[in-house]
This record gives sequence, structure tokens and C-alpha cells, in this order.
Amino acid sequence: MKGIILHGGYGTRLRPLTYARPKQLLPIANIPMSQYGLISLKNAGITDVAVIIGGDNSQKVKDYYGNGEKFGVNISYVTQDEPKGISHAIGLCESFIGNEKFVVFLGDNILLKEITESVKDFEKSDYDAKILLCEVSNPSQFGIADVDGNGMIKKIMEKPKNPPTNLAVIGIYFLTPVIFGIIKKLKPSWRNELEITDALQMLLESNHKISYDTITKYWKDTGTVDDIIDANKTILENMTPVFEGKKDDGVTINGKIIVGKNSMIKKGVSITGPVLIGDNCVIEGVSKIGPNVSVGNNAHIQNCTIEDSIVMDGVTIDCKITLSKSIVSYNSRITWKGEKSSIIVCEDSKLEL
Ligand code: G1P
Repeated sequence: MKGIILHGGYGTRLRPLTYARPKQLLPIANIPMSQYGLISLKNAGITDVAVIIGGDNSQKVKDYYGNGEKFGVNISYVTQDEPKGISHAIGLCESFIGNEKFVVFLGDNILLKEITESVKDFEKSDYDAKILLCEVSNPSQFGIADVDGNGMIKKIMEKPKNPPTNLAVIGIYFLTPVIFGIIKKLKPSWRNELEITDALQMLLESNHKISYDTITKYWKDTGTVDDIIDANKTILENMTPVFEGKKDDGVTINGKIIVGKNSMIKKGVSITGPVLIGDNCVIEGVSKIGPNVSVGNNAHIQNCTIEDSIVMDGVTIDCKITLSKSIVSYNSRITWKGEKSSIIVCEDSKLEL
């Protein structure tokens, strides 16, 4: 089987973070969110992967993943010149897929469950598609499925006003090349996209069969800052603690922590896990870190309190400040200047002081 990872879109709800990079490259527990999808595909034995890119910062996706060798996969890139929908993106991969069955993974979906079993079941089955469903409390914000009692899908619709169930269609689709003929017949939706849900519904209406598995573990479609902070927390909670750095006596540590190589935790610092600190960091002064904090590589943190937040590589924070539900992007500096603050805030930034 082959794999497709969708890596396009504008990520408007995550501006200004998404001005500099596609949202799927934003780190969750210090690796890009789309890498979780790539790892899931690889763990399921899928190593031929097309990554669909689009938009101004696509080169950054290529720079990060390259030809896939570092990640143990072969990556080809397919460019989608405008975000015309998931089905449109899949349609661009017809020649890459050839006659094989395949899995499409939306690069902004984070889930704890591996997909290996679902891949194996689909490989063996005669069905034309398989989807994964997850119960949600806000069904009108997702693709929604109605099911029969025998593991088969009856109907699929995109963001219905009156959802018949609360079973959201998550962004991982198991498909066969039959879908390409269907996609060619699709019309754009109200949001001017070729919807995957419309393609699946058309598949059902042309007497094809779609099976499903239900996900009960964590799943998140990460559209907003709150979603990213929440996904970060969940991934951190599920990591295995490793301490590869150094720490002084007089450091207080509670809960699960991961500290990378050459990182130094100095006297007076208190860490409450889950916390992930990358390589080559210095944490010092009266700093309180955690819970639910990831800090990238080469960060220098002094005299501050950070909880439920993401701090990326190269950040300096030296200031008596408490950051909560915050995202501090690459190489930013937050330092204390005196009574008058001097700040450079880029377009669409959000400072809640
Ligand atoms: C897309 C799909 C939707 C699905 C969701 C899962 O929605 O159209 O059916 O439930 O992904 O992440 P979008 O994120 O484009 O609004």
C-alpha cells in the first residue's frame, strides 16, 4: 500500500505562527505534527509516501522531510496550487498511486492509536474504502457518518447542521483507486472545495462499500492554538521519561520529564511533568516549568513560570513572567527591560498581558 500526507492549506486560525511555516510543521512535543502521521504510516509498513504541499512556505516541508531517507521512507512531493479540498489533493496523486490501495493522512490530525490493524484489515478486505470514526461533542464541525449495525457506513455528510450521529470522520482515509473516477465527477461544495465526504458519499451511492473502525483513544484535528496546546499535553503525557542532560542539586522534579542531551537544569528550578526539554538548553534562576510544557532545542529560560505551553527552538526567556497556554515561536526573545516594555509584535500577534 502507499500513503499520502496532506500538507497544504493556509492555517488562518493559527496566524501569525503560520506566516512562517505551514501549520503541519508546527511542533507538538518537539516534532512537526505531520511527522506523527508519517510515523504511523511507516509503523504500518507503508514507506512510499506522497506529501501534498501548497502555499508560500512549501519549501520548508521539502527542507524538513527531504526524500524521506532520514525517516525510513521514500517521499515524493505533489504540489496543489490552491487549497481546493481534500478530494482535489487526492486526485493529484492518481499516477503516484497506480493500482494500489492507499491511506490518506491529514497532516494536522493527531491521534494516539496506531493505524496498523486498520491497514491490515483494509488490505485483506474487498471494500472500496474504510474510514475511522470518533465520537465528538460538536458534530456539526466535522464530516459525520451514519452507520448500520454491521460495521458498514450508511451515509456520510460534511459538517451537517442537524447531525444524525456524533460520529466524526477523522482525517485518515483508506482508499482504492476507484476513488479517482469518483473525484473526477465531484462538484465544489459551498466552501468551494472538492470534499472527501462528498466523494465517499458518491462511492456509497454507486454501490461501493465503506467499512469503519471506531477510535476511542485521543484524536484531535488541530486548527487552533487551544487544539495544539491540548495535543501537546496529550503527547507529553504519553511519552517515556528519559534524562540525558545534567542537573544541579537543589532542582525539584515531580512527574514525568524528558531532558535532552547537553541540557542543564540549574539550582532553584522546579519542574512538574509532563515536561519535555530538548537538547542544549539552559533552565535557570527561579524558574517553574510545567505541567504540560515542551521546550525545543537551544532554549535559555530564566526566572519565569511556564505551564501548558509550547516553547520552540532557540527561544530566550529571561523575565519574571508567567506564561500559560502560550506558544513562543522559534528564536523569540522575552527579556526584562525595566518599567517600560519594548516589544516588536508581528502581524496578527496576540499578547494577553
Ligand atoms: C476535514 C474534512 C472533515 C473531517 C476533518 C477531520 O475538515 O472535510 O470531513 O472530519 O477534516 O480532521 P476540515 O479540517 O477541512 O474542516
